[in-house]
Amino acid sequence: MAKLKWGMIGGGEGSQIGPAHRLGAQADGFFEFTASALDHRADVGREYARRLGVAADRAYGDWTEMLERERIRDDRVDLVTVATPNSTHFEITKAFLEAGFNVLCEKPMTMQVDEGEEIVRIAEATGKICAVNYCYSAYPMVRQARAMVAAGEIGKVRLVVANFSHGHHGDATDADNPRVRWRYDPAMAGVSGQFADCGIHALHMASFICDDAVEKLSADFASTIASRELEDDAMVNFRMSRGTVGRLWTSSVAIGRQHGFDIQVFGETGGLRWHSEQPNQLIYTPVGGRTQIIEKGEVGLHEDAQRLSRVSIAHPEGFPLAVANIYCDLADAIRGQVRDGLPGATDGLRSMAAVHAAVASAKADGAWVDARPPMFR
Ligand code: NAI
Repeated sequence: MAKLKWGMIGGGEGSQIGPAHRLGAQADGFFEFTASALDHRADVGREYARRLGVAADRAYGDWTEMLERERIRDDRVDLVTVATPNSTHFEITKAFLEAGFNVLCEKPMTMQVDEGEEIVRIAEATGKICAVNYCYSAYPMVRQARAMVAAGEIGKVRLVVANFSHGHHGDATDADNPRVRWRYDPAMAGVSGQFADCGIHALHMASFICDDAVEKLSADFASTIASRELEDDAMVNFRMSRGTVGRLWTSSVAIGRQHGFDIQVFGETGGLRWHSEQPNQLIYTPVGGRTQIIEKGEVGLHEDAQRLSRVSIAHPEGFPLAVANIYCDLADAIRGQVRDGLPGATDGLRSMAAVHAAVASAKADGAWVDARPPMFR
């Protein structure tokens, strides 16, 4: 089968997320790295693209040049990844979708709720794929958890508790470091700091495993380092459409916690627990029974978890292969086989609605606020 052609915007040399996309997109041989605009400095981006093997005539200086030149090619790219800083996602994603490209956008998909609704409408109108990189949802054992909940193996879900709390911005003497400071500056980060950065991964995960949507929430935000305008710690209570109770803690000042992303789902007949730092194991406890460890790659997993387990049992699979799983599902979707669970534009929109609801709630001393996007009310 011929490889699909892949293009990337952002993710230049030294960026945080760029390598995970390049490893992920090329891990299974479905995509060939064909075109790029990798850096905000045109020459630097072109030069790095050449080193990565992109042909000179498709190593573009910026995304507008890439759009204009790719759209008139017969062999245009099949998928464009947007891995630039947050404030550019809407403009770039919209432009490529409207020109008829499939897009994988980094989170958050937009900065505003109305922009998110516009992306959903454009994706529907054009029939193009707009995926959002909620890559944690593509770990095999997260897919196993989702499948177990769907199959009723823990009964009706009563409660979900998610944390995404790390300590990497907890050093007050480093708060002025430009790589840290922008995340808490509204001019650069928008209305929310830590919740929009990490909290939305946890909230998406809760919705993903339960296959349910957040309806309303109540938030308490804190800026524990005085110079920060936006929150570096948040506690969010939420309710989902089928009545599930949700609790979410996200922090960047939890010194001692490293990645700090874990989730527990409690149903009427059992509980599940998954932790991103031990992603190969899913902990399962049936009511009244012993706690069991379900291992990635073992016999008898649900189909989706089995399909996305790459190496045999007990060998670690990590973050780049979770991103690769997103690209596997995208390759299938581009070829016409849409996979359950591929995070899309509506997920990106729901996240942005939740961010704005949390900000409004925190400003109103934790009042409960409708977290649904207007178009889904
Ligand atoms: P970064 O600051 O490390 O790198 C950004 C890259 O984009 C740089 O190479 C820069 O030169 C390039 N760039 C900036 N403006 C550009 C433009 N207009 N055109 C082309 N290239 C441009 O940022 P990082 O941490 O890699 O984050 C990028 C995005 O990925 C963010 O939206 C972030 O939220 C998201 N992210 C997602 C993660 C996930 O788990 N899904 C994890 C880390 C980041």
